[in-house]
Amino acid sequence: MKEDLVLPAPRGTAAEREREPLLEVSGLTKHFPVKGGFPIKRTVGQVQAVDGIDLSIGVAESFGLVGESGCGKSTTGRLITRLLEPTGGTISYRGRDITHARRKQLAPVRSEIQMIFQDPYSSLNPRQTVGKIISGPMEINGIDPAGGREKRVRELLEIVGLNPEHYNRFPHEFSGGQRQRIGVARALALDPKLIVADEPVSALDVSIQAQVVNLLQQVQRELGIAFLFIAHDLAVVRHFSQRVAVMYLGKIIEIGDRDSIYTRPRHPYTHALLSAVPEVTLTEGAGRNRERIRLAGDVPSPISPPSGCRFRTRCWKAQDKCATEVPPLVRIEGNREGHLTACHFPEDPTITDRGEDIVLDPALAALEETDQG
Ligand SMILES: Nc1ncnc2c1ncn2[C@@H]1O[C@H](COP(=O)(O)OP(=O)(O)O)[C@@H](O)[C@H]1O
Ligand code: SF4
Ligand SMILES: [Mg+2]
Repeated sequence: MKEDLVLPAPRGTAAEREREPLLEVSGLTKHFPVKGGFPIKRTVGQVQAVDGIDLSIGVAESFGLVGESGCGKSTTGRLITRLLEPTGGTISYRGRDITHARRKQLAPVRSEIQMIFQDPYSSLNPRQTVGKIISGPMEINGIDPAGGREKRVRELLEIVGLNPEHYNRFPHEFSGGQRQRIGVARALALDPKLIVADEPVSALDVSIQAQVVNLLQQVQRELGIAFLFIAHDLAVVRHFSQRVAVMYLGKIIEIGDRDSIYTRPRHPYTHALLSAVPEVTLTEGAGRNRERIRLAGDVPSPISPPSGCRFRTRCWKAQDKCATEVPPLVRIEGNREGHLTACHFPEDPTITDRGEDIVLDPALAALEETDQG
C-alpha cells in the first residue's frame, strides 16, 4: 500500500508564493462510456466530456473557466477535486501527483481543495442545522479548532455575512443568496487553499448574484484562496478572474489574462461569446452599432465531435484545413505572453474593444467601478 501524500510546508515570501503554481493539469481527459445493445449491454461509444486540457492555477489566483452548457466545465471541476477518476492526463497539486491517488492518500488534499456548488438548495442537507452543516467538514476530518467547533462556525458565519446567532436554524429558513453563503462558509471551514466554484451564482436572482460574487472575491483576496470559478456567463467571470480559459466541446480553445481575453480575443468562438449579450441599448460609443454574432446551430454531440477543429460546424471562417487538422493551442502573433489560441484563422487583433460588448448587470458594473476607483 502506498504511503500518505505529504504536502510540503509553504516556502519563501508571500510574493514568491503567488507565482508558485498551486495546481497543474496536463492532458486531462475524461471519457464516459456510452452503453447500448440488448440483451447484453456493451460500450458503444465514449462521451468525450474533457479531452486533453492543460491549465495551471497559481497560489491565491482567481481563474475563470467559461463555456456553453455541456462543454465539460463541471467534469473538469470534478476531476480536479478528484470526485471523478480521470481517463488520462495528470493533476498535480503543490508539486504532488494526485492523478490516481487513493482515498486515504487524498485526505490531506481533500481538506485543501473545496467545492462550492451551483444549487444552494440541493447542496445543503435540509435536516441538518447550519451549525452541523458548516462543522461537517471539521468532523469528517477530525479537526478541533482552538475554542471548539461551534466558535469556529460562528466566526465563519460572520465572515460570510450571516448572523452567528442563526447557528441552530435550518436551510429552509434562509433565502437563496443566504444559502449560498452557508455553502461558502462550509467550503471555508478547513482553511482551503483552492476552491472550485461551479456556477456558484447561476441559480440565484440577478440582484443577489453580485452580492455573492462580491463575497467570493473578498474571500479570495483577504484569505488568499485560489479559485477556479466556473461560469457560462462571461460577465460574471470578467469581474472575478485574473485569468480566463474558454472551453468548447471538451477542449480549451483560448486562455489568457483577463484583459487580453476580453479586449483582444482571437478565437472566433470567444468573439461569439462576447457578443452573445441581450439586445439592449448600449450607451454612446463604438459598441453601439456593433454587429452581433449569432452562433448558428447547436453544440455537436461530444460522442462524435467534428474532426479537426471542433468549432468548425458553427464557425463562419471555417476552411478545408479546419476539418483535417486540429488547431494547436499556441501563442499567435500579436498575442501577449500567456495568451494562447487554438485556431488556424484567428480573428484580427486590431479589434480591441470587444470588452465593451459585455453588458454587465448594473450591480456587477457597480462592483467593477468600485474596484477600479
Ligand atoms: N456521469 C456522466 N456520464 C455520462 N456523461 C456525462 C456524465 N457527466 C457529464 N457527462 C456529459 O459530459 C459532457 C460535459 O458535461 P459537463 O461537464 O457537466 O458540462 P458543463 O458543466 O460544461 O455543462 C456532457 O455532454 C454531459 O452530458
Ligand atoms: S480553426 Fe477554423 S473552424 Fe476552428 S475556429 Fe479557427 S477558423 Fe473556425
Ligand atoms: Mg456544469
